[in-house]
Amino acid sequence: MTPVSPGKFSGSCSTPVEARLMTVPDFQNAKQRGLRLTMLTAYDYTMARLLDAADVDGILVGDSLGMVIQGNDNSLTVTLDEIIYHTRMVSRGITRSLLVADMPFMSFQVTPQQALVNAGRLIKEGGAHAVKVEGGVRSAEAIAAITQADIPVMGHIGLTPQSIRAFGGFRVQRAAERLLEDAVATEQAGAFAVVIECVPSELAERISSTLKIPTIGIGAGAGCDGQILVTYDMLGLFDELRPRFVKQYAELGQHILQAVEAYCQEVREGTFPAAEHEFH
Ligand code: KIV
Repeated sequence: MTPVSPGKFSGSCSTPVEARLMTVPDFQNAKQRGLRLTMLTAYDYTMARLLDAADVDGILVGDSLGMVIQGNDNSLTVTLDEIIYHTRMVSRGITRSLLVADMPFMSFQVTPQQALVNAGRLIKEGGAHAVKVEGGVRSAEAIAAITQADIPVMGHIGLTPQSIRAFGGFRVQRAAERLLEDAVATEQAGAFAVVIECVPSELAERISSTLKIPTIGIGAGAGCDGQILVTYDMLGLFDELRPRFVKQYAELGQHILQAVEAYCQEVREGTFPAAEHEFH
């Protein structure tokens, strides 16, 4: 790790790749070298700084912000402007991680030109290094249009949350062979990596060994080339949904509750602020 200046968080995580800004070729090299990639989501500056200090390889400003930040039931209402707003904040906290911004529902489906214009806004206005596009075969033209303008695209297949209205809920929507076709179409359209969500581990492993680009799994087993989780889930900050594939690495929600309760109690009984917190 490069030394951190005072006031910066410093992570202790040893990383197999150099501590400099991660690039799209670094993701591809990691797969060739058999190094597993780490990704998490962030939606604001403070969380981005923490993840970056812990040497996470990639940070996704996911449309999951519709649920964990905005409190909606799904991600469909998230707008491009909202993703740009959060991406800009996250970009200020990043020194090392690759910053990927999600293309929200209806920001890429209309025409490949619409997809390209909106991907360009995420890069120019949001400061993203790459964009993520849901859907395999059906999104191939949009992915091709974006990558032809040298904007790196991460695909997303399997459970694609933007399709919940068509499929009646959060479930894996395609048969094995169709998923393999989606993966291959995503790679052929020029994507540099692909998220595989909620797919049986054996199939995810088969897709990972078929593709040259890295696969980033979520609920897709250990055979993927990397993993991603929603940070609020793995830190125990969001408890409305507890998918089976999430491992909770901390119970920050409980810590926050206890801290806030202690603060309220001390204010009410007059023990905070104490002498050391006062000016004279
Ligand atoms: O929106 C999101 O956070 C995502 C990840 C779960 C992959 O798409």
